[in-house]
Amino acid sequence: MVNEMLKDYQLKLDSRFDIILAESGQLYDEVLNACRYSVLNGGKRIRPVLLLEFYKLCGKDDDCAYNLACALEMIHSYSLVHDDLPCMDNDDMRRGKPSCHKAYGESMALLCGDALLTEAFSIAAKTKGIPAENVVKAVAHLAASAGVAGMIGGQVIDIGDNTKSDDDVLFEMYRLKTGALLKTACAIGCILAGADDELVAIAEKFGEKLGVAFQIIDDILDSTGDAKTLGKPVGSDEKNNKDTIAVRLGVEYCRELAKKYTDEAYECLEHFDGDATRLKALAAYLLERNY
Ligand code: IPE
Ligand code: IPE
Ligand code: MG
Ligand code: MG
Ligand code: MG
Repeated sequence: MVNEMLKDYQLKLDSRFDIILAESGQLYDEVLNACRYSVLNGGKRIRPVLLLEFYKLCGKDDDCAYNLACALEMIHSYSLVHDDLPCMDNDDMRRGKPSCHKAYGESMALLCGDALLTEAFSIAAKTKGIPAENVVKAVAHLAASAGVAGMIGGQVIDIGDNTKSDDDVLFEMYRLKTGALLKTACAIGCILAGADDELVAIAEKFGEKLGVAFQIIDDILDSTGDAKTLGKPVGSDEKNNKDTIAVRLGVEYCRELAKKYTDEAYECLEHFDGDATRLKALAAYLLERNY
């Protein structure tokens, strides 16, 4: 069920990205090519799928949330392009292909990330068919989550020496660098659908729990996964002297921990009147994933 659902969404999202990032045939082709290379490359699309599924869960059955869904995935893709740069994780592979800077050079990869981030807000602002008030609220949520108090803040913790920090700091890092974008995905789906603040807060809680579980599994896969399946290098954290929870507390314990966070996320879904079967299945799938 989840594989089919993801495939379905992937096709729909890719055709949108095709339009959004159409080659201009003009002066700025190279940066657009780098953007296309970094977005249209087989990402799992978990964040836009969460956004669109929460939109559905709140009773909406139209395509109007796609601009925000694409904007979010563009921001996520930019974060990966910059995350792989030599000054960050220095990783050569991403989504099964040479990283953006390996294919286009460091300067262009930097600009590609900048372009994806900026164009994301342009697309988000062009949303039609949803009350402007909800769109503004969603865009503000997206900006805050991608910014200093969200994903960027988490990346700042990540580049510090976390070998000496206590476990709480590592969890804070997970909550921010990964949890923030997953949390905003769930919240934005609800906001666009016009859900009240209480429900948005519950969706945020779901996203944050799922985000921490997601990063725990990512760290486990970094030490135990298979590079070909993952589409990115294994051992990146060790290479960069990153002290992860998986290394610190052990893989078996961390699997249980990720399950605990996922179980707590499930509980949030009980507050919604809509059918959360697909979201539950997605959360379970993420726990068992091998890429
Ligand atoms: C990778 O995210 C980066 C993390 C926040 C752990 P994903 O595992 O969702 O990567 P893609 O988008 O599927 O490539
Ligand atoms: C990524 O964390 C977090 C981001 C905000 C991009 P990682 O550095 O562990 O992600 P991967 O393993 O490179 O995908
Ligand atoms: Mg990193
Ligand atoms: Mg990395
Ligand atoms: Mg990782």
